[in-house]
Amino acid sequence: NASNAASRGAFIVMEGMDRAGKTTQVGKLRHTLEEQGHKVKTIRFPDRTTPMGTMIDGYLQSKTEMADHAIHLLFSANRWEKAAWIKEQISQGYMILCDRYYYSGMVYSAAKKNPALSLEWARTPDVGLPRPDRVIFLDLNAAEAEKRGGYGEEKYEKREMQENARELFLGLAGRGEESSDMVVIDAGHSVEQVASAIWDEVMKVVKAVETVPRRELSV
Ligand code: TYD
Repeated sequence: NASNAASRGAFIVMEGMDRAGKTTQVGKLRHTLEEQGHKVKTIRFPDRTTPMGTMIDGYLQSKTEMADHAIHLLFSANRWEKAAWIKEQISQGYMILCDRYYYSGMVYSAAKKNPALSLEWARTPDVGLPRPDRVIFLDLNAAEAEKRGGYGEEKYEKREMQENARELFLGLAGRGEESSDMVVIDAGHSVEQVASAIWDEVMKVVKAVETVPRRELSV
């Protein structure tokens, strides 16, 4: 009930492969929620506008080099910079739509296949962050992504990295908290079809948060 001042907002994360249409779908979802009378704020990670975000941006554009663990911790710190703000907005009743979150954090770092940087290690610095009410994973295979105009020039936009990342993302469907939070949606359909599949999921969440308290990510 959007008119109930006491109800909290939902924290919805959009994850997905490069070219899967995350940004388009966040925009459409925002529009639909607003039409229904909800207050909405959108954010994205990495947030390249903060000092840490500037360092991340330099790394992704291959202007600077960093050890795998160091860049991983920067991505995590970049989320911690926003954690208090996210909690505050949710408690004020805002629906937070977040373009990438710690799922990308775990998966892209682990996709480097550095034997000293496992998926479990990668998750640890994010423990304690606001836990999403729902994570929508827009799934697209590398061949389809390349048909959509190929990848850009950034560091991770290479076929092998993308294939490793996709496999790891799909594997999260069987991991602890992620298995109950994440829903996989096939992004290989039309924008409207994907938007409608997303809405089916979000509709349920919007109802559920009226009775479910906000949580934090746990070990
Ligand atoms: P993003 O700015 O979302 O780029 P795009 O709009 O091209 O999808 O993300 C940039 C890259 O950063 C992307 O390849 C995923 C990666 N990434 C991480 O490696 N760790 C993280 O914690 C996050 C949020 C993103």
